[in-house]
Amino acid sequence: MKKNKQLLFLIFLPALAIFMQGQSARELSVLNKESTISDALVHLGEELPNHARPEADSAVIKRGYELVTLGRTIGPDGKRSKYISKYYVCTSCHNLEQENPDLSKVDPQARLEYASQKGQKFLPGSGFFGIANRETWYNGDYEKKYGRLVEKARNSLAEATQLCATVCSSGRLLEDWELEAILAYYWQNQIKLKDLELSKQEWEQLRLAENKKLAVDLLKSKYVQSSPATFGQTPANFLNGYEGIEGDFENGKKVWELSCMSCHQTDGVSTATFDNSILTFKKFMRHLNQDHPYNLYKISRYGTYADKGKPRYMPLYPKERLSDKQLEDLRVFIEQKSQK
Ligand code: HEC
Ligand code: HEC
Repeated sequence: MKKNKQLLFLIFLPALAIFMQGQSARELSVLNKESTISDALVHLGEELPNHARPEADSAVIKRGYELVTLGRTIGPDGKRSKYISKYYVCTSCHNLEQENPDLSKVDPQARLEYASQKGQKFLPGSGFFGIANRETWYNGDYEKKYGRLVEKARNSLAEATQLCATVCSSGRLLEDWELEAILAYYWQNQIKLKDLELSKQEWEQLRLAENKKLAVDLLKSKYVQSSPATFGQTPANFLNGYEGIEGDFENGKKVWELSCMSCHQTDGVSTATFDNSILTFKKFMRHLNQDHPYNLYKISRYGTYADKGKPRYMPLYPKERLSDKQLEDLRVFIEQKSQK
């Protein structure tokens, strides 16, 4: 009997040791490259935000994707839903993919080069990749444009979505199931740990989570929690352009093609279509110094406002989405194209 017990112990102890080792290995591998920001934050003791939809199934996510890219989908009642907006889809102004090579920085030039490499558009709205990882929306000067409407939107992704669906896209309020589907879509379009450039040491800091506060701070330093927006000014003298900035033709070409033309090509969302003929470019140059819709600086910095009976409008570009330098690049491109 005694011998038996000893034998049992002899087997039990190593088994326990192996088991424990397995446990700690599992503990360490809780976070991996495919883990999302929210997985990491939960691992570090943070709570999920209100807009989290971790339980959403793939059918709902697909509906959200269709609403965002096509403006309509097949609803839960099996019927085709009404368009959110007659004029736009969300992706007219927002990309879905990663836009910034370094997610911790807002750098319009890095974003332009990245868009050019990846064949993406360069749009006035912020991207939906990682939008669920942001903590505030409609930041900076958007309050100037949309006033009190922004109050609710700033701290709620659901409210920001409703504001954009109704006002920014000249559309309508989303029904509950539509909003749910879009939130589910955002949720699965989160930033993953592999998208952050984490060193080995930083990985360990996150995994071990010995100092949770430090680890949360570390994680949040790796991506921006909001998309800043500063409304720019037109240059003091339109003909001289922005003081002290030299434009670059090739860069301006990228802005024209990846940004302006994404809406102004034939079949684009704007009724004003630009061909790449010398006449189009001459028209811009003719009005460069005038109070006219084709004043390049004014149209880019102020956009147009939706009016009764004219619901199509052009969103302005904040400086973070198109810098003064990039606008000057565009001007040089247009200027040269108007001469040959
Ligand atoms: C005509 C252009 C346009 C269309 C169409 C549009 N948006 Fe926007 N949206 C904007 C602009 C401009 C902002 C300002 C804030 C930003 O994105 O930087 C914005 C902001 C947002 C924000 C807050 C983003 C942030 O980080 O501050 C959300 C969420 C949003 N839109 C959702 C949508 C959805 C969903 C649709 C489709 C139903 C849509 N938008 C259609 C232009 C547009
Ligand atoms: C998100 C879509 C979008 C983008 C991007 C965009 N525009 Fe527009 N633009 C519009 C819309 C919509 C109008 C309003 C006219 C209409 O379609 O009815 C407009 C109007 C204009 C007009 C006035 C046209 C007229 O006949 O009154 C000019 C000029 C213009 N845009 C230039 C530009 C330039 C230059 C760029 C790039 C820096 C640009 N747009 C980027 C959508 C866009």
